[in-house]
Amino acid sequence: MTAIATAGALSLPISLRRSCKFSSKKFQGIKRGFRVYAVFGEESSLEDKKSQWGTLFDVEDPRSKVPQCKGKFLDVYQALEVARYDIQYCDWRARQDLLTIMLLHEKVVEVLNPLAREYKSIGTMKRELAELQGELAQAHKQVHISEARVATALDKLAYMEELVNDKLLEDRNATGSDVASPSSSTSTESSEVKRKLPRKSLDVSGPVKPYHPRLKNFWYPVAFSTDLKDDTMIPIDCFEEPWVLFRGKDGNPGCVQNTCAHRACPLHLGSVNEGRIQCPYHGWEYTTDGKCEKMPSTRLLNVKIRSLPCLEQEGMIWIWPGDDPPTPTLPSLQPPSGFVIHAEIVMELPIEHGLLLDNLLDLAHAPFTHTSTFAKGWTVPSLVKFLTPASGLQGYWDPYPIDMEFRPPCMVLSTIGISKPGKLEGQSTKECTTHLHQLHVCIPSSRNKTRLLYRMSLDFAPVLKHIPFMHYLWRHFAEQVLNEDLRLVIGQQERMINGANVWNLPVAYDKLGVRYRLWRNAVDQGDKQLPFSKPM
Ligand code: FES
Ligand SMILES: [Fe+2]
Repeated sequence: MTAIATAGALSLPISLRRSCKFSSKKFQGIKRGFRVYAVFGEESSLEDKKSQWGTLFDVEDPRSKVPQCKGKFLDVYQALEVARYDIQYCDWRARQDLLTIMLLHEKVVEVLNPLAREYKSIGTMKRELAELQGELAQAHKQVHISEARVATALDKLAYMEELVNDKLLEDRNATGSDVASPSSSTSTESSEVKRKLPRKSLDVSGPVKPYHPRLKNFWYPVAFSTDLKDDTMIPIDCFEEPWVLFRGKDGNPGCVQNTCAHRACPLHLGSVNEGRIQCPYHGWEYTTDGKCEKMPSTRLLNVKIRSLPCLEQEGMIWIWPGDDPPTPTLPSLQPPSGFVIHAEIVMELPIEHGLLLDNLLDLAHAPFTHTSTFAKGWTVPSLVKFLTPASGLQGYWDPYPIDMEFRPPCMVLSTIGISKPGKLEGQSTKECTTHLHQLHVCIPSSRNKTRLLYRMSLDFAPVLKHIPFMHYLWRHFAEQVLNEDLRLVIGQQERMINGANVWNLPVAYDKLGVRYRLWRNAVDQGDKQLPFSKPM
């Protein structure tokens, strides 16, 4: 196992926008203790203060001892050593910041000290206070930078901890004692490759198996509200069954089987008549709960077609295809506050939804695949990583300013920081001032078909929303990007069906995709507790 020393102590990426996690109470306590010195009006240097406050600030500057290994490949122990220096530096920096603030605070108290006031004019005091105010603001800014450093260093430590855990697991699962580093597997000899395969590689090969009923027990968003007018019908395939969406008399959406009870005619070829869907063959009419209320030219029979629980929330129509009772609440897929939705696009794609999710959860392919669209001109980084500081299925890409999340059962949410067009490397999402937010919903239509819902939002240029025909431009761009992927994924699908394993040799940057597959495998096996989920 190797890691690259991107976490050199003095080159940590800094986000100035992370919220402050320092306890204000802690600072108040320090301030209170500090005021005692001010009342006595002691004049002392930074060094004097250091000695008075004992060992709190008596920490050696670690910068001279940082291992010089930026850009080099390190083994995990060396990488941990670098991370240790990162933390030491953060600790030293935080102490310096705190000392500066304490000293400035003391000066403020001194300026306001009634014992000293008689010797100073109001003008002098005002000037001194204004200067101190400026210095305090600067010191606070420095604290925020330090805090961002700490957060980043902790993220990197968490990532390394994961690497170590993976390594331990790999060693434990290894049948022999000679498991080699995947990064050094350049040999083409089959025996050599076999020896170096990660022992817990996935097997996603052969024709797609029938969907496990467990996968159906989720709320699935299947259409955008704006596409479902009072008199329109939206036919959808979901888990290999044809359904149709339409609005009832009360305006609420419904989802019924798209097959007439009489002679199996597709209902979506008909029309909506006063909140009932009318079959185009002999005119039978069904309500949103599937009850047949009209049978022209014959005696009305008690007939009902299947319907699914169907709700509308936050601009989307949701269905529950499973047999279990639906959960009472629907997840929220809204973009973060400050974003405006600019495009909502639906596409039907000739690939299995898992393969599409694998593709969407992978960013490492961008500089090779998307050379005509969004990744045009991107350089190929020496190392791409997906860091998951918060929980198992979300995190961010390093070195790209892109946050990403897999949201079960089939959603991908991503936020892309935009600074300079075409220059995505070397910044975190929070450092960018403008962002693009994407939602991809991959609905399993059938074992080789996906209905993709794509929603794009921006936190800048709201005026774009009002430009005529802009929607067509967004659609054109989305299709272009997707087409760059499609030809590759279709090829993967063909090989997979013929027995190739599409997850034959996952590497470090495949982490999120692998985690999706672990989740999906658990669903397919009917596991009660799913990985990366909160206990039920
Ligand atoms: S097939 Fe639908 S009414 Fe006859
Ligand atoms: Fe792609």
